[in-house]
Amino acid sequence: MDLRVRRAPRIDAEITVPGDKSISHRAAIIAALSNGVCRIDGFLNADDCMRTVEALRTLGIRIDEPEPNTICVHGKKHVLMPPEDEIDCGNSATTMRLLAGLLAGQKFETRLVGDASLSKRPMERVITPLREMGADIVAEGPDNTAPLRIRGGNLHGIKYEMPLASAQVKSAILLAGLLAKGKTTVTELAATRDHTERMLRYFFVRTTRSEKGAVTIFGEQVPESRDFHVPGDLSSAAYWLTAAAAQPGGHLLVRDLGLNTTRTPVLGVLVRMGAQVREAVEDVDQLEARGVVEVNGALLKGTVIQGKEVPLLLDELPVLAVAGALAHGTTIIKHAQELRVKETDRIAAIAHNLRAMGAQVIELSDGMEIHGPAPLRGARLPSFGDHRIAMAFAIAGLFADGDTVIQDAECIEISYPGFEAALDEMVNPKRAQTSTPVIGSFTSAPE
Ligand code: S3P
Repeated sequence: MDLRVRRAPRIDAEITVPGDKSISHRAAIIAALSNGVCRIDGFLNADDCMRTVEALRTLGIRIDEPEPNTICVHGKKHVLMPPEDEIDCGNSATTMRLLAGLLAGQKFETRLVGDASLSKRPMERVITPLREMGADIVAEGPDNTAPLRIRGGNLHGIKYEMPLASAQVKSAILLAGLLAKGKTTVTELAATRDHTERMLRYFFVRTTRSEKGAVTIFGEQVPESRDFHVPGDLSSAAYWLTAAAAQPGGHLLVRDLGLNTTRTPVLGVLVRMGAQVREAVEDVDQLEARGVVEVNGALLKGTVIQGKEVPLLLDELPVLAVAGALAHGTTIIKHAQELRVKETDRIAAIAHNLRAMGAQVIELSDGMEIHGPAPLRGARLPSFGDHRIAMAFAIAGLFADGDTVIQDAECIEISYPGFEAALDEMVNPKRAQTSTPVIGSFTSAPE
């Protein structure tokens, strides 16, 4: 499917975005291990999260869908059933890596497979610690790639220092730790999103966090079933927030958004680039901050994105690179080598597409240098089957002369069903906006 985009008029909108992808995966998995029925609303009904739902069903967990974006998970404590067939994780690395942790604690054998992209992604990062905990895992692909054959059970806790910053790896170890004897401690090289730790605590699982950021989980605990509301996904909102930020006079308010500080550094980058960004936390009841973000656009200026903030905004780098092309001066992205092993090599994909639109980009081994501002011109662009590349370049198309066509744009369904309708609404606003007051007070997003 082609997605055609043309230059946007001035953006002035109030929106919500679909539920957070990372939180939806975790809510379904932890609820499945709980001792009762958990109703999860705001659940992201997108391809990636539905892979996790289907996988859990294959493992004997009843999951009802009483309404769109609501699932009711019937937790079976830690008792999963051996699946009759292999489990297809599709394009979802979160499904494969988190399930690897879960299945490492089950006594039966499972085979996890994925699509062509997922079958190329590194799995050694989860295999090594899970083997150390006692699981038997064989990677059938070359260089420790999927399919993964896992036979688990009889796990013991470990102390593990992760050699890379990855929330998926941390989460796989914590889930295995929940099913293991004794305690498991994971130390991160740099902080990553902490949804798993928060969700476990929300379900009354005992975990601790040291001052240096090491997370410890005490094994063999059964999560207490609870209901949960998934907030909107800041990584999805980032497309629109960036579009409004890069448009002098642009204005956007996004409601019911997850504002966990391990996800908000993208807002700080937009502030550094010159946009006015304010956030108001309205609720932290479920241990995940949620609230409102408001952006007022400006002529952006280049910035440097590097170091410890990179793992906290990795998913937003494609659209931030587009902002870099629109900004005055140079934008440098460094220490982002992980982008090369995402759904596609995102460094190469961003550089290819920005150049095709007329921007000046120098590709680095771990990032890129973008010399802006570029008068972007519309082009036919490959999505490389990567949802974040497709959406980032749809946003670029809003700033280009002439039509931009994103090829194979159906991959957007992986994380953002309804993106095309939201794009249409942004470009042709139909409804009068009715603004409900914001609870709490706005603060400027920290740089
Ligand atoms: C995710 C973690 C990140 C992120 C991905 C979702 C998660 O991946 O890029 O989109 O839900 O844990 P890594 O753990 O590979 O950094």
